[in-house]
Amino acid sequence: MALRERLRADARQRHAAGLDRTRRVQDARLGMVADCDGVTLVNFCSNDYLGFAQHPAVVSTFRAAAAEYGVGSAGSALVSGYFSAHRALEEQAAALFGYDAALYAGSGYLANLGVLTALLDARALCVQDKRNHACLIDGARFSGAALKRYPHADVAAAEAALNGATQDLRLLVSDGVFSMDGDAADVAGLAQIAARHDATLMLDDAHGVGVLGATGLGSLQAAGLGAGDVPILVVPAGKALGGQGALILSNRDVIAHLVDTARPYLFSTAPAPAMAAALSQSLRLLATEAEHHALLQNNIRQFTALAAHAGLPLLPSNTAIQPLLAGDNDRALRWSEALRARGFWVSAIRPPTVPPGTARLRITLTALHTPAQIETLVETLHGVIKDDDGPAY
Ligand SMILES: Cc1ncc(COP(=O)(O)O)c(C=O)c1O
Repeated sequence: MALRERLRADARQRHAAGLDRTRRVQDARLGMVADCDGVTLVNFCSNDYLGFAQHPAVVSTFRAAAAEYGVGSAGSALVSGYFSAHRALEEQAAALFGYDAALYAGSGYLANLGVLTALLDARALCVQDKRNHACLIDGARFSGAALKRYPHADVAAAEAALNGATQDLRLLVSDGVFSMDGDAADVAGLAQIAARHDATLMLDDAHGVGVLGATGLGSLQAAGLGAGDVPILVVPAGKALGGQGALILSNRDVIAHLVDTARPYLFSTAPAPAMAAALSQSLRLLATEAEHHALLQNNIRQFTALAAHAGLPLLPSNTAIQPLLAGDNDRALRWSEALRARGFWVSAIRPPTVPPGTARLRITLTALHTPAQIETLVETLHGVIKDDDGPAY
């Protein structure tokens, strides 16, 4: 069959290039110790930055809400799938992040796709950082807008892309913290050029919320900015909030427009109401229990200090994402396998997730890691890289 032959040829090519993927099966987990494919490993590649996915209060809220509402929402939000838990979460998120209104979507991918396809069309311009998350790029492409991608973190290039734009509607879009690099966008700089060129700034703060800012409210808090500077904020909930879905925060006009027209929202079953309730609990913890954020910050500091002392080739980052550059795909895979054999779970990230020649280990820190686990990881990394057959780092 032509399809199968073609797929097998593609698969052979991916294998030869070190680009085939494996899904590891996780079973029980306790803190950051996971049963992964039957082996006990310390997980250093989870996005559960604050440990909320396992926080007893979040788990018990989820359980109680499932008992009350049932499991699935059983409908699109526009038909019968919108529950009081969804509404409460939206109101709470809007108040916490300082926006007029919010919409709770099924995932970060769907949220970004929904915002971009609902707001943009062929008459609009969308300017994006080259390293924005794939769903932001996909959303702009699907919208039919003119898409200009500027070199990573280059605010002057972003301004050049806006300069002289003929389109009335201009949307400037960036990750708050870049998911594979861990560096933070210059949100204040982007807000300034957006204002200068009458563009709307949209930020995806998947990896900033829970991590950056004095109390972990994210990139806007860290930059001292608010809804007036960044009129659209997307907060995917599968990272530091420990759940699933995403909150889109904006003014009432934007949210009403999305409710009426965002196809990924309209034509998809609403997320489980119990998940909305659990996320409300996560937001309460974020607002009231400072210790989770403080523990994460300590762990980031400990890791970066030890790694610098050991001379590990880390990319510059002060967030929970700490990439260790391998360059070559096979080398990244070898490092990851060697770590696994020594009790650590750190996945290798390869193209197309990152640019060719920049394969890496994406190490993530969480509030649940212990100082001893971090210390042993750095020692082990040092040994693994030193013993590797490939060129020295
Ligand atoms: C920056 C960023 N935005 C959006 C997403 C997508 O969110 P979700 O996993 O909820 O679809 C991710 C990661 O998955 C991400 O890293």
